[in-house]
Amino acid sequence: MNPGTAAAEVDVREIRDIDGKHVWHPMMNHSALETNPLSVITRADGCTVTDGEGVEYLDAMAALWCVNIGYGRKEVAEAAYQQLLELPYYPLSQINPPAAKLAAKLAEILPGDLNRVWFVNSGSEAVDTAIKIARAWGKLQGGRFKIIARYQGYHGGNIGGASLTGQTKRREQFEPLMSGVIHVQAPYFFRSSAGSEEELAARCAEELETVIRYQGPETVAAFIAEPVIGGGGVIPPPADYLKRMREVCDRYGVLMIADEVITGFGRTGELFASDLYGIRPDVMTMAKGLSSAYLPIGATAVTDAVFDALNAEGEPGFMQINTYGGHPASCAAALKNLEIMIDEDLAGNARRVGKTLGEALGRLRDIPCVGDVRGVGLIWGVELVEENGDPLSTEATGRVLSYIKKEGVLAGKNAGWADGPSNTLTIAPPLILTDEQAGKIASAFETALRKFHAEG
Ligand SMILES: Cc1ncc(COP(=O)(O)O)c(C=O)c1O
Repeated sequence: MNPGTAAAEVDVREIRDIDGKHVWHPMMNHSALETNPLSVITRADGCTVTDGEGVEYLDAMAALWCVNIGYGRKEVAEAAYQQLLELPYYPLSQINPPAAKLAAKLAEILPGDLNRVWFVNSGSEAVDTAIKIARAWGKLQGGRFKIIARYQGYHGGNIGGASLTGQTKRREQFEPLMSGVIHVQAPYFFRSSAGSEEELAARCAEELETVIRYQGPETVAAFIAEPVIGGGGVIPPPADYLKRMREVCDRYGVLMIADEVITGFGRTGELFASDLYGIRPDVMTMAKGLSSAYLPIGATAVTDAVFDALNAEGEPGFMQINTYGGHPASCAAALKNLEIMIDEDLAGNARRVGKTLGEALGRLRDIPCVGDVRGVGLIWGVELVEENGDPLSTEATGRVLSYIKKEGVLAGKNAGWADGPSNTLTIAPPLILTDEQAGKIASAFETALRKFHAEG
């Protein structure tokens, strides 16, 4: 079937009508849709998505930080199709070939000796699995169960991940959340009183150590961090922050969990951000770029040491099962996705084009409502402020976003500073982005921000 034909046949009005009656969309009050309707996205190719009216946009968010290889790679669809014909499904209570091959591939490319992989279907499940692994491991260490996470961090929508998430608005509706979680500050230099990034990294490490000591090291199982915070306002860490946090974890026998759901698979200019920042996590969570979202898949990888502890003689193993974990078609798609990503050096492209993008975005700093521009590789945030430096309101930031869309570019917005507004514009395009497309994103931002500023 020609995908173009199917898309052309979509009756946008009808789809909008049934969607409006039946689909519950995330993170919004549906009454807002009357004045600000959602786009009906029907097709995509490369870095471009097309709506039901045929209007094309440069997708500067790779959908939801995830279509890393870009849209329309037929090889991935073919791999999944062939697998569905051969063996559509079998659970990992036995062995299926694509899952075995994918686990081996991951063990080859992951940092350190993260050699054992537990498959799930999403980032949220990967995080909740990591929590359970840390707790199961902690029990064997004499009763460690607490998890230290960070304010501004985002770790998914399941109860475990929501408990680790450090943003008021993503938590308060669901409280009380999981017990045994303690939050420490994120390395958010823009609103920190630290005089330098090095000082901030030192302060954060000191705080982590203090918290572990006050809690009692023998009760703390793990510290979890996104190497670069994504959904909490795009916050790349000071250069040596993660190494310092790793040192503290080592000093007190605490596991370090790197949540690489966004940063994994090339986004920061290395295959994994743990490589970029020189750390070896004990546990890593991943999803999104693992299959570039062609099919749902997530995973939690652990070191040999963690795996061996849970598999010591007399232990029951890991007492969890996911029906779709290691789904053959998802694994086949992920394998083809990784082949493309590595053969075409998309991490290298993210590094190179990310530099062009970062330089162009940096020039926006002279616009008064731009408070901060930060990022690495192909993950960037532009934090907007009022004249007095306070965060710009969610509504005003949304207006800027709509102006960017008028320029033919889809960007995102989020935040995470305490209970503050969504005032950071986000960029995380497919890693196949060209310098020219990077220029288009930056110029759409500039036009939109200057228009917003001129309105006063
Ligand atoms: C760092 C991080 N962890 C976990 C998740 C949850 O992933 P998912 O939406 O696939 O459940 C996300 C999603 O954006 C994420 O950014």
